[in-house]
Amino acid sequence: MYLKDDDLVIRDAATEDVQLLCDWWADGRVMAHAGFPKGVYTDAAKLMDKIRNQSDAERRLIIEIASDRVGEMVYRTKDGVSEVGIKICDFSFQERGYGTRALKLLIGYLFNEMKVQKVILDTNLNNKRAQHVYEKIGFRKTAVRIDSWKDQLGVPQSSVDYELIREF
Ligand SMILES: CC(C)(COP(=O)(O)OP(=O)(O)OC[C@H]1O[C@@H](n2cnc3c(N)ncnc32)[C@H](O)[C@@H]1OP(=O)(O)O)[C@@H](O)C(=O)NCCC(=O)NCCS
Repeated sequence: MYLKDDDLVIRDAATEDVQLLCDWWADGRVMAHAGFPKGVYTDAAKLMDKIRNQSDAERRLIIEIASDRVGEMVYRTKDGVSEVGIKICDFSFQERGYGTRALKLLIGYLFNEMKVQKVILDTNLNNKRAQHVYEKIGFRKTAVRIDSWKDQLGVPQSSVDYELIREF
């Protein structure tokens, strides 16, 4: 998969990206928003296998800005519903409009090319920036789950679910 909007590219992750993904996921500053303030260890060989076997149903993607790898996206589709995730890992590229653009680009592809009916995503209740971005794009809040899970340090965390339904 390869999507482009001016300086922004979203493309399939490749085996050459495995080390960078492992480095990002090992970094607690990058992973704190997902509940892993100490980062996570990744088995590079398993990730390599997964990336080699990507399909339309589930793809790990790299976000590039002016040819630099700055973050990742992921989607997983089942029964016409795609769950999406986004992470701009290079902090210097956050807050510059790229997250909004990347989400719009991927969602456009899922609705128009993959013909999915609905896109869902969630975020931590503390993540006001992500909530603002999702709502700006048109996502509707469907649930707030208070203290629904514990992070890596055992601290209870709350999450917010969103959905965007395809318009015909
Ligand atoms: C969340 C994320 C995808 C947003 O992308 P981004 O490129 O940083 O954001 P954008 O520049 O497109 O938009 C930011 C918007 O949020 C607003 N914002 C920033 N901080 C905010 C806050 N604390 N509360 C409310 N709104 C906030 C900005 O003013 C801007 O709004 P505007 O477009 O209406 O002016 C990106 O920051 C990211 O990947 N963060 C780390 C991982 C993460 O949080 N992933 C998503 C949750 S799982």
